[in-house]
Amino acid sequence: MGEPLIAEKVHEFSAPGITVQFRPGRCIHSAECVRGLPVVFQPGDRPWVHPDRAPADAVAQVIHRCPTGALTYERTDGGTAEPIPARNTAVLAPDGPIYLRGRIQVVTMGGDVALEGNRMALCRCGASRRKPLCDGSHRKVGFRDPGELPYVETPVAEAGQVLQVVMSPRGPLMFRGPVTVVSGSGVARTEGGSRAFCRCGGSSNKPYCDGTHGRIGFTG
Ligand code: SF4
Ligand code: FES
Repeated sequence: MGEPLIAEKVHEFSAPGITVQFRPGRCIHSAECVRGLPVVFQPGDRPWVHPDRAPADAVAQVIHRCPTGALTYERTDGGTAEPIPARNTAVLAPDGPIYLRGRIQVVTMGGDVALEGNRMALCRCGASRRKPLCDGSHRKVGFRDPGELPYVETPVAEAGQVLQVVMSPRGPLMFRGPVTVVSGSGVARTEGGSRAFCRCGGSSNKPYCDGTHGRIGFTG
């Protein structure tokens, strides 16, 4: 498979045993990294990542917590690579994005891969300037949605399969493939892989698309 269509800027920070990669275009400043290992992740410094200040295993463990995939790593000491969850999950953050984990590809309507990774945050407020990725704009625009699911389904999501998220240029995010969708409260849950999720912010049936994107002239 070739390179994804969306070219992402990547900064690398190396230390014995590990190379940390940072994609600034994905960071939404959730600060999981800073809280997890403040001695390594120092936003006020240039460079801001100091992987030499902690054991490679500890750095890797904190990177797993980065919800957007802004941080990834390669072990150069034969250490274990990041484990990929067997089942894909999509968590609907209250008043925020969709957080995806697993084997994730964002694809165009024509099937070309635009982005891929194991962790990703996708915009659902419609205001991100880095669509389809979240850039934190939901806070600025006061996006409100609890991320609750209207009902529960329980077919079993297959393990080890890719979830493709199809970007409709002027419409929703269409999920194709096995995924467990977790509601904002973490209680209700549905599994399946063929739903259209609103990404314009305007649907009256959130988290699903209700066609409002057409009326408001959304462009993604
Ligand atoms: S955990 Fe990831 S998204 Fe959050 S501040 Fe760190 S790099 Fe950015
Ligand atoms: S994408 Fe928001 S209503 Fe369709």
